Amino acid sequence: MLTANELRQKYLEFFKSKGHSIIPSASLIPENDPSSLFTTAGMQPLVPFLMGEKHPAGNRIVDVQKCIRTSDIDEVGDATHHTFFEMLGNWSLGDYFKEDSIKMSWEFLTSAKGLRLDANRIAVSVFKGNDNSPFDEEAYNVWVNLGIPKEKIAKLPKENNWWGMETGPCGPDTEIFYWAGNPSQVPESFNDDNELWVEIWNNVFMQYNKIAAGEYEPLKQRNVDTGMGIERILSAVNGFDDNYETELFKPLINLIEELSGQEYSKNQKSFRIIADHLKAATMILGDEKGIMPANVGAGYVLRRLIRRAVRYAKLIGINQIFTFKIAELVIVMYQDIYPEIKKNKEFVINQLILEEEKFNKTIEQGLKELEKMSAKKKISGQDAFVLFSTYGFPLEMTKEIAKEKGYEIDEEEFKIEFTKHQDLSRTASAGMFKGGLADNSEQTTKLHTAAHLMLAALRQVLGPDVYQKGSNITADRLRFDFSYGQKMTPEQLKKVEDIVNEQISKKIPVISQEIDFEEAKKQGAMGVFEHKYGDKVKVYTIGDFSKEICGGPHVDNIEVLGHFKIQKEESSSAGVRRIKAILE
Ligand code: ALA
Repeated sequence: MLTANELRQKYLEFFKSKGHSIIPSASLIPENDPSSLFTTAGMQPLVPFLMGEKHPAGNRIVDVQKCIRTSDIDEVGDATHHTFFEMLGNWSLGDYFKEDSIKMSWEFLTSAKGLRLDANRIAVSVFKGNDNSPFDEEAYNVWVNLGIPKEKIAKLPKENNWWGMETGPCGPDTEIFYWAGNPSQVPESFNDDNELWVEIWNNVFMQYNKIAAGEYEPLKQRNVDTGMGIERILSAVNGFDDNYETELFKPLINLIEELSGQEYSKNQKSFRIIADHLKAATMILGDEKGIMPANVGAGYVLRRLIRRAVRYAKLIGINQIFTFKIAELVIVMYQDIYPEIKKNKEFVINQLILEEEKFNKTIEQGLKELEKMSAKKKISGQDAFVLFSTYGFPLEMTKEIAKEKGYEIDEEEFKIEFTKHQDLSRTASAGMFKGGLADNSEQTTKLHTAAHLMLAALRQVLGPDVYQKGSNITADRLRFDFSYGQKMTPEQLKKVEDIVNEQISKKIPVISQEIDFEEAKKQGAMGVFEHKYGDKVKVYTIGDFSKEICGGPHVDNIEVLGHFKIQKEESSSAGVRRIKAILE
């Protein structure tokens, strides 16, 4: 049996032997990525480097990145989809391209240096081409030359074989599938409708930048972005057809059996959802950013995960407070790989208990109300909103229950109600209902530089215990979280604004340098140190005012920033304040 840790090490070492530098996982909560709530793929923290910035660790990179994906949440409950997963990824940043990428993947999967998978159980797909971009003949031929039978090389359309986020780097991909069914019954040809052909690896050939829907431009360089989910490949290597049988889930399944007194084999969907969602919730709470359950943004996703798990737990007879017990086990399982979850254990446990208690108080009553409301077989937007605001039912949960029972629900009306009652800004409600996109516009770059100035100013005004805890920038505004124990006074806020504006008026150039991590620390550079890339790091200096370890990008001279203005200062979580600011 190959363990998860052996698999991680094998992968990293294999690509290291092919000239790749190993970098650590970035946070689950993206830095400076406008409306993306979570890191959804290994490439996300690397976008600036795929766009052409130089990566301090070089142009061949490999890592294991923790990810959260909620786009597949309705599929969680099957054998292979997960909310939290770890992605093994190797990157060429303007270095090797299709042929080398495919050959290395093949070698890793099938050779003695790698996983020794049975080549007969592997099939692939390539991009078949459309009006804008041709059939990927190059990738197709590489696979043919490696000896894959043509019946096992599917040519599929853009929906299957093209990868990118809403905007940013993208391109055609080739996907690798593994036959998870009976080894003596491997089909002669590949059929993407057969669920036993499990997608295990995706190699994306990124040579375009998507600017907007239907608008592409060539990237400065040709990149490779690959992603292989650990949960699936571990299952494949060890001969399972259910990821929940692997060591990454089995201990959780066993614990749920103990807590419920029920058998996994008879309640697969509930068990899988509970294990998956509470693992994801533990990893989000345990990340360094201090995300807590809330009614908007990442906190809302977290709340949904916890509450959905609690609802499924009730279906299998778990009625006591239990989510923290699952979390304790998740922490034991992952603490050596992601030490932050151990460090934040108390926070994780406390938040889970609080959230579960809160929900327990209203869930029974809420379910009864829902029964009454649905007498007409239709749940109005107002009713769904009452379930949300009074009984704490996330909209998606109400939708799910309605679907199970065959009722309809007026979602549009709910959204109108929601926006009316919450008095949310357009961005906040858009953030709740929509996935993320990466935006590298000029304005976000300016706000990013302003964030550096603001941090330095905050430290001057509030003292040296102020550190950055997170940031999120859209083209409209900058949101910045930092460590500080109390509300700032109007005078302090004014002072911070004045200091930043005074600096801007000095027209100081922004200098970037690549130096050793230790040297950067010695020079007193600020930085989220979990973001260090191997030994060399990028440091941005603004006169003698600000020095930060950061991936960029930034403006060349701060004179272009205009006028800096703080719009709001509020609490973000215990000991953490949040500022929203703009440039006018
Ligand atoms: N970025 C690619 C994916 O997530 C590899 O599938």
